[in-house]
Amino acid sequence: MEEKLLEIKDLCVEYKTDEETVYAVNNLSLSINKGETLGLVGETGAGKTTTALSIMKLLPQKIGFIKKGTIYMNGQDIILKSEEEMRKIRGKDISMIFQDPMTSLNPVFTVGEQVAEVIKLHSEGKSKEEIEKRVDELFLMVGLPAERKTEYPHQFSGGMKQRIVIAMALACEPQLLLADEPTTALDVTIQAQVLKMMKDLKDKLNTAMILITHDLGVVAQTCDKVAIMYAGEIIEHGTAEDIFEGNFHHPYTVGLFGSIPDLTTKSKRLHPIEGLMPDPSDLPHGCRFNPRCPKCMDICTKAEPREYISDGHAVKCHLFSDDSSEKKEG
Ligand SMILES: Nc1ncnc2c1ncn2[C@@H]1O[C@H](COP(=O)(O)OP(=O)(O)O)[C@@H](O)[C@H]1O
Ligand code: SF4
Ligand SMILES: [Mg+2]
Repeated sequence: MEEKLLEIKDLCVEYKTDEETVYAVNNLSLSINKGETLGLVGETGAGKTTTALSIMKLLPQKIGFIKKGTIYMNGQDIILKSEEEMRKIRGKDISMIFQDPMTSLNPVFTVGEQVAEVIKLHSEGKSKEEIEKRVDELFLMVGLPAERKTEYPHQFSGGMKQRIVIAMALACEPQLLLADEPTTALDVTIQAQVLKMMKDLKDKLNTAMILITHDLGVVAQTCDKVAIMYAGEIIEHGTAEDIFEGNFHHPYTVGLFGSIPDLTTKSKRLHPIEGLMPDPSDLPHGCRFNPRCPKCMDICTKAEPREYISDGHAVKCHLFSDDSSEKKEG
């Protein structure tokens, strides 16, 4: 039996600035089982980072607010936890890898000290020697020589810094890893290495992972399940097979797939979806994708579509009826 680890229901998150209210996440629901990898995909501004920060309860103070919803981790609602309780959960149960490794690294401490600090925070009673031994193990695990633990972040390349951040994130073997575009800041060859390493570590430790990316190629290589996000909503989700095959897809997903360069032919032409993401402080009525949708119908500007589900594969679009294997129009 698959065991549920994280379950988010109807999550709404807003940012309030002096000028406007940004509706960053709108009624988002998703769940992830132990050991599973979920790819969270969407353009910049879709609300992916906001979703991850909500799970960590690290939204910017006095600006970011969870307005509605529940985030159950192992059956307990994170939203109700105090900051003190969250400090125990972060790093131990849930860890996050940020896009820019320097978000997590402090330039004035050695990288070894920083990895040790995470271990200390969550393992009372460990001796200094035990902690150092664990630091060495972690360096080895992420493919860095342990002797380099006495160096400072600036002495490492971008890819190496991200490895150190991953070592910190995995130091206490969290049950859930939130990886927010962990390889975007790295060059392509290093990207592949870091991703492979993350996958191997995940398989070894049975960590569940939410992998945030706008790269569908990365998702195809790493994820069991995929959720596609647009304007703060999940507009399609299912297994990787559901998303990468068949013809039951949200028009936005179809557009995204059109924008992957086809490596099997000579053509490297990208097909970006025309238009821009809607202004998140003034979202369109009905379906949020309607201003950009090539299949837009009358109803799409009036009524919000509901989610149509077929064998666990869900699409939020008026094109699909309850018998979702059939498209209403071609
Ligand atoms: N601190 C903030 N203050 C105001 N708006 C924000 C803040 N952080 C993010 N946003 C807005 O929230 C929306 C979702 O952003 P984000 O979650 O970062 O998307 P993604 O990670 O998918 O690119 C965007 O419109 C973004 O401009
Ligand atoms: S609901 Fe309408 S506008 Fe939205 S994606 Fe489907 S067809 Fe396009
Ligand atoms: Mg982001």
